[in-house]
Amino acid sequence: MKVNIKIMVNGDPYFVQVSPFRTLLDVLREDIGLTGTKKGCGEGECGACTVLMDGKPVNSCLFLAVQAEGKEITTIEGLAAGNLHPVQEAFVAKGAIQCGYCSPGFILTAWALLKTNPHPTEEEITTAISGNICRCTGYQKIVEAILDAAQRLQGGVGNV
Ligand code: FES
Ligand code: FES
Repeated sequence: MKVNIKIMVNGDPYFVQVSPFRTLLDVLREDIGLTGTKKGCGEGECGACTVLMDGKPVNSCLFLAVQAEGKEITTIEGLAAGNLHPVQEAFVAKGAIQCGYCSPGFILTAWALLKTNPHPTEEEITTAISGNICRCTGYQKIVEAILDAAQRLQGGVGNV
């Protein structure tokens, strides 16, 4: 049995027919074609699948697509309007992206943090990204990138 649902993703409506048990992650990647959201563990442990749901970071592998009805979903594709978003620029500038598999999740988590806490301490950043795993960078460059992003965002840059 399949159900018809409408999901708002990056400000656009998507009408999809899904199994009630299909995850938001799989629908975003396979039905809607937004492959910027990555699949890692599939069990809520790595954060690679992070998207924003009504502005808050969630693991899209732990949500059913039907649970996203009526919510605003933001994926990494929705962060930048044309040029890179300041958070993305900071990650590039600080060398916080290596293989890049974890990057969409970290960047969306960072953006959600900076919207509610524009001047986070290193400790607050570490806490915010504690649900995201990176196997390449050793995390310090990611923390530096988020501190740098906070500075870049001063003055109200950003579009989400
Ligand atoms: S793929 Fe969702 S938390 Fe790892
Ligand atoms: S940059 Fe490779 S997992 Fe983070």
